[in-house]
Amino acid sequence: ADKEAGERIRAAKAALGKKAVLLCHHYQRADVYEHADLTGDSLKLSRLAGEAEAENIIFCGVHFMAEVADILSRPEQISILPDLAAGCSMADMANLAKVERCWRELSALMNPDEKITPVTYINSAADLKAFCGTHGGIVCTSSNAPKILEWSFNQREKVLFFPDQHLGRWSGYKMNIPLDEMVIWNPDLEQGGLTREQISKAKIILWHGFCSVHQMFQPRDIIKFRNQYPDGIVISHPECGFEVCKQSDYIGSTEYILKTVKEGPPNTRWLVGTELNLVERLAREVKAEGKIVQFMASTVCMCSTMQRIDPQHLAWTLENLVAGKTVNQIKVPEHEAVPAKTALERMLAVS
Ligand code: 13P
Ligand code: SF4
Repeated sequence: ADKEAGERIRAAKAALGKKAVLLCHHYQRADVYEHADLTGDSLKLSRLAGEAEAENIIFCGVHFMAEVADILSRPEQISILPDLAAGCSMADMANLAKVERCWRELSALMNPDEKITPVTYINSAADLKAFCGTHGGIVCTSSNAPKILEWSFNQREKVLFFPDQHLGRWSGYKMNIPLDEMVIWNPDLEQGGLTREQISKAKIILWHGFCSVHQMFQPRDIIKFRNQYPDGIVISHPECGFEVCKQSDYIGSTEYILKTVKEGPPNTRWLVGTELNLVERLAREVKAEGKIVQFMASTVCMCSTMQRIDPQHLAWTLENLVAGKTVNQIKVPEHEAVPAKTALERMLAVS
């Protein structure tokens, strides 16, 4: 059935020609990825969506990515997510009501002479990007987070970083911010579970969010690998926990991981801490150069929501377009899209 869906996708793409462009995140499964016109990490895909000429942008990724494509593309262009259930569990860990409450409470608890910049990871809903746009804040991705923090600290003394605590902490650490000046705001606790003193001392307030895929990787996976292969190289995504990041040789976005391993020396062994589809594809691509690529976790961990984009949904979406029907359009309402675009454009200008 997958083979048949693959043929349907090829036929529909040929019929659509330049009317549709298929953007694909690096975590997409192989039977979808093979149909991509363009691939990338979330920063690269944002830029590509903003530059796309096609009427229809088919986004093989997750919901927030298709929202960004809608926000950054021209008004007449249509952004489509082949399965509307393809969300991001980390993005769902923050919502506007909770962030607004946190903002109000922080404003009341902070020293009156201090100001705070809201920074949202791109893995967040459009209304949170809009919140940042409205409050002098900005968006970041895993490839530009330290640079974005630097920009933020040039504006104001403190940063509220959501939803991913790990990316926020790692980026702060790279900027030499002491660990005890980065505190976690737990939205389910009163005052975020923090004292006034902790808030007063903190440079970065980290939201209590994480990626359920990347939190599976453990320092013991790295220790075991290093014991077995002392010359091996470890590379991880900054959504991994702090200890995993600290023990890795390289840290970066999905695009960075692919580039670093591909351009790395031949006949090397790599342990990779990111999603399984990417790791398996990379392992196949570099095998001929004598590079061995290993997945970090001992369990299978895929991003189950990315996996929802399958050849059947993609074929159905494209065939509807051929028939003149648009299905699964992602349209961000104007009142969110305008301020969200401000925050995204600040990011693109800085990175
Ligand atoms: P990248 O920006 O590195 O592509 O990461 C997106 C993501 O969701 C990682 O889990
Ligand atoms: Fe979200 Fe994690 Fe999946 Fe990335 S890997 S899309 S952060 S759930």
